[in-house]
Amino acid sequence: MLSDRYGRTIDYLRVSVTDRCDLRCTYCMPKDFRGFEDPPDWLTFDEITRVVAAFARLGTRRIRLTGGEPLTRGRLPELAAGLSALPGIADLSLSTNGTRLARHARALREAGVTRLNVSLDSLDRDAMACITGRDCLPAILSGLEAAADAGFDPIKINMVAMRGVNDSQIDAMAAFCIERGYMLRLIEVMPMGATGQDASYLDLGPVQRRLQVKYGLRPQAAELGGGPARYWSTADGGASIGFITPLSQHFCATCNRVRLSVDGTLYMCLGQEQTYPLRPLLRAGATDAELEQAIRAAIELKPREHDFNRRPDKIIRFMSQTGG
Ligand code: GTP
Ligand code: 5AD
Ligand code: SF4
Repeated sequence: MLSDRYGRTIDYLRVSVTDRCDLRCTYCMPKDFRGFEDPPDWLTFDEITRVVAAFARLGTRRIRLTGGEPLTRGRLPELAAGLSALPGIADLSLSTNGTRLARHARALREAGVTRLNVSLDSLDRDAMACITGRDCLPAILSGLEAAADAGFDPIKINMVAMRGVNDSQIDAMAAFCIERGYMLRLIEVMPMGATGQDASYLDLGPVQRRLQVKYGLRPQAAELGGGPARYWSTADGGASIGFITPLSQHFCATCNRVRLSVDGTLYMCLGQEQTYPLRPLLRAGATDAELEQAIRAAIELKPREHDFNRRPDKIIRFMSQTGG
């Protein structure tokens, strides 16, 4: 089992399989973003699987595939099938922008992906185009239908709530998700230095209190995933809404995760800079024991908590690099 200097068990690995994306969400990519690096430094599927297998031997049970947009990497279901078959992996999930789900939902399900989180910030087509840089709403909506048809249940919807951008859409999104049986999660925007989104930060505390009255929300005790969301159920128990509040009410004390980027770097925290490079080891023919030792050394570097509130301009990498 992996545990860090603060006594937290680390059993959840987020694996970014690409830093590329077919969208340009304002909170994820910088305004003047030009293009992506060529991928010679990307881990191969075999290398990713080897790292995940090492984590699994050290007690990791949950894997989430992220990006960039994970479905822009070819043959993703093949990687998923290999990971879900590893001994010890009990939960394989995927975070996606949904634009390519219509094509891939069934194959992902068959490959052993058990849970799906889809980004959707508005139901207004123009607003979505503005936030993401592309007219993508119709593709996402058909992706969601394909995911439900493929048997994903529940499907979680990630809405990054931004003041003056999409906060007027929160109620419409809640109604849509309740009607379709999706689980809405409202997310506070995290300040990734170069994206300059600080101005649109919205404290979700007041939103939560308002929705609590509107839907008779009650705090839900059951864990619904391995993540930082706090869930509430509607008065009739028929639906849940989650709140992810890294700034107004952070959840670092119960952090259970680290991240692997596509170039083989372990990131110990979203809002801090400690990293540990695994690619050199992988390519120098390290043994399994050496790989496990490196992972243990990396976990020792994990900081207590993020620094988003004290130093909002500190992190200048993009979410597309670490997968959120
Ligand atoms: P579940 O396992 O379904 O609960 O997934 P999740 O919420 O952990 O993952 P998802 O990829 O859907 O991320 C939702 C939001 O939570 C994104 O905005 C992530 O950036 C954010 N998030 C996930 N893990 C962390 C974390 O450890 N720290 C912070 N600050 N934010 C996180
Ligand atoms: N702050 C909060 N959430 C973010 N995401 C991407 N960038 C940010 C940010 N700056 C979310 C996306 C996606 C999830 C994986 O991370 O909306 O749903
Ligand atoms: Fe963990 Fe860092 Fe996220 Fe806090 S911000 S929950 S310490 S990864």
